[in-house]
Amino acid sequence: MIFQSDKMAKIKPSGIRELFARAQGIPDTISLGIGAPDITTPEILKREMRYAVDFDYNNYDQSPGNPKLRAMIARKYKDEYGVDYSSDGVLVTCGGVQLVYVALQTYLKKGEEVLIQDPSFLTYPHQVQLAGGKTVWMPSTNDFKIDVEKMKELVNEKTKMMILNFPSNPTGSIMEKHELKAIVDIAVDHNLMIISDEVYEYYTFDEKEHVHIGAIDGAYERTLTANSFSKTYAIPGWRIGFGVAPTEIMKPMIGYHTYVIANAMTPAQVAIANYMDTDAAKEFQKFIKNEFQQRRDAIVEGLNSIEGIKCHKSSGSFYCYPDISETQYPTGKEFSEKAFEEARVVIVPGTEFGPSQTTNIRASFGSVSIAKIEDVIHRLTKLVEN
Ligand SMILES: Cc1ncc(COP(=O)(O)O)c(C=O)c1O
Repeated sequence: MIFQSDKMAKIKPSGIRELFARAQGIPDTISLGIGAPDITTPEILKREMRYAVDFDYNNYDQSPGNPKLRAMIARKYKDEYGVDYSSDGVLVTCGGVQLVYVALQTYLKKGEEVLIQDPSFLTYPHQVQLAGGKTVWMPSTNDFKIDVEKMKELVNEKTKMMILNFPSNPTGSIMEKHELKAIVDIAVDHNLMIISDEVYEYYTFDEKEHVHIGAIDGAYERTLTANSFSKTYAIPGWRIGFGVAPTEIMKPMIGYHTYVIANAMTPAQVAIANYMDTDAAKEFQKFIKNEFQQRRDAIVEGLNSIEGIKCHKSSGSFYCYPDISETQYPTGKEFSEKAFEEARVVIVPGTEFGPSQTTNIRASFGSVSIAKIEDVIHRLTKLVEN
């Protein structure tokens, strides 16, 4: 028998993947489980990809990323947030997930602690574990912001960094600039690194503007921002993400990335670089944001109309995170089981996202039309009110 390494033996299989596997091939199932947009990839971007392959951009590219794409990413931050990153501070990776992984592998020493919000994107604590670090969960307020006062109490000499993610997966919450400033101040006072995962930056609702943490006073020199084209251009399967940071932070990460990946897929990088600055790309972002806001309105209103379910209005991303504790299935796990078995609705229990998340479920509206949302509400109403 070949034994796994100690670090791998401690990793639990993803509950979400198990749920998806069970739902595979079962007719008439509606999934609110998937964290990806169902919107079709823009035609112009698909054409750019075909051109890139046909014009033979099929070789290795530079390890940190295609030079044109890196320059355009740096320019995006200047244009949109007024923050100067050099192209050398940009790393193009195989998705945002790989960017965070490389950062943790590069910066965490064994036993160092990482502050992660409870609840959070489920990949983070596993990646922290793989890097030999320890996750310390930061409690949330009732509206799913980080509880800053409680956060302060968790910082000690082992704390190395924090991972922030606004707009949030799984809650859809955002934090205002002054609230984030209080968190940045803690990072400055204790010399902590900030990893800010901003993959949902373009999906903020009700006229709320995204706050780029690197633009907050004191944050720039200690912040690595993770981002991705997966959600922005509806291309999660292309696996192109990126990070921006001051060059001193990025340089060792580029070294790590070079040895494990060499470079992210060349033709996809070329295609995105040719598409990124077009009017079509900007129009697509507006369209997708508007679409998600309409879906958010429909699902939040629908869920709140069901007896026993309370759903706050998400301010961004494409998730909402209702509390189901007053239904006859009062834990997320039980609710998710029943929703699948009796209503053929796939929905993820909150415990996937943090240890104290027993009474919430995550509903993704990234991949369901308004008509399907109405169907889901009808099915869940029947389930809960029967
Ligand atoms: C918060 C967050 N970060 C990162 C990612 C990863 O995106 P990708 O690796 O496709 O770029 C996701 C995907 O669901 C996410 O929700």
